[in-house]
Amino acid sequence: MTREPALLGGPPVFAAEIPINRPTTPPIHRIEPLLREVFESGMVTNDRQVRSLETEARDLLGVEDAVAVSNCTSGLMLIWRVLDLKGPVALPSFTFPATAHALTWNGLDTIFLDCEKDTFTISKPALEAAVRGGARAVSPVYVFGNAPDWPALESASGGLPMVSDAAHALGTEAWGRKAGSFGLAEVFSLAPTKVVVACEGGIVATRDRALAAELRVARNYGNPGNYDCRWVGLNARMSEPHAVIARLSLEECAQNVARREVLARAYRQGLSDLPGIGFQTMPPEVRTNWNYFAILVDGDAFGLTSKQLGAALVPEKVMTRRYFHPPVHTQKPYRDLPGPQPPLPNTQWVCDHVLCLPMYSHLELSVVEEICRVIRRIHARADAVRARLQT
Ligand SMILES: Cc1ncc(COP(=O)(O)O)c(C=O)c1O
Repeated sequence: MTREPALLGGPPVFAAEIPINRPTTPPIHRIEPLLREVFESGMVTNDRQVRSLETEARDLLGVEDAVAVSNCTSGLMLIWRVLDLKGPVALPSFTFPATAHALTWNGLDTIFLDCEKDTFTISKPALEAAVRGGARAVSPVYVFGNAPDWPALESASGGLPMVSDAAHALGTEAWGRKAGSFGLAEVFSLAPTKVVVACEGGIVATRDRALAAELRVARNYGNPGNYDCRWVGLNARMSEPHAVIARLSLEECAQNVARREVLARAYRQGLSDLPGIGFQTMPPEVRTNWNYFAILVDGDAFGLTSKQLGAALVPEKVMTRRYFHPPVHTQKPYRDLPGPQPPLPNTQWVCDHVLCLPMYSHLELSVVEEICRVIRRIHARADAVRARLQT
């Protein structure tokens, strides 16, 4: 007899919780000697380790410069601060709120754009309309590792500065280049949920050396060294211990992306024949780093919506997330902005159907295979699961 889903009384498929994400931190025996060096030197922030990280990131990405910051959000905030633009900035609504917050903290208005239903990245016609409507810059987003369609954005943006939220994208390659080398600047996150982790951290990659030099001042309160501040900056420095972890993690980036490719392939193989399950489309020119693994759940065909499937996986001890949900333009700081908010039907559709499954570099292949099996069992008993969730 096939095993019942846990929601219907069967035993949970896992004894311990499988989180959606877990930091893959470098081995402690590699961290320790470098940390000892840092503490013995007495220089615990923004020093040799940070400089080494910046050089290594710059060389790996093939960019002119890389600036380490305390996190991706502060990197974005500082770039918009030093660019000192006037006028609204176009960005997708299918993103993490930090993309929008960085603009709003700088007093810049936001023009929320729809995404494509298949790739989840910014829609070219939406961007063209925003440019005609007076956008002064663009903030594209890499979604789950997938790159926005850079050639399309370059033609649609009419030469406006583009600063991407590349929080998910360290290790992604697109159109024969590394993520980090597009637009004016791209900002990576090194938070625990990312492919390269510093525990907390960020890296700005840019081809503009002058911008990089300004960011090094801006991340230090805006103080160029003489306390005659050039901007209302931030303390957005990276500490030396964070840089140690980031450097070691960066070394493992390629191997961890390769590992994630194996896991993503297993998810696709294990789920692709299920009715109502779809996947994010990666353009052939993109080699994603698989920072997140998302499925699309068509409630009618699968028998359960993404929300219901997520709820049915909880008693199996499989954690999932409807990510990004709700869309940013509907969140409190943005939904009551003056002026008409255009409907964003694709964004709403993706938000309503998306479900991110567990994905991290050291996740075991057997766990992915087991998650696929339990999703199949839940689908086979979809009517009963739905009825139980509705009681
Ligand atoms: C798309 C996106 N942008 C920005 C951030 C914020 O990154 P950080 O925590 O490094 O500021 C995140 C965090 O997950 C994100 O997913």
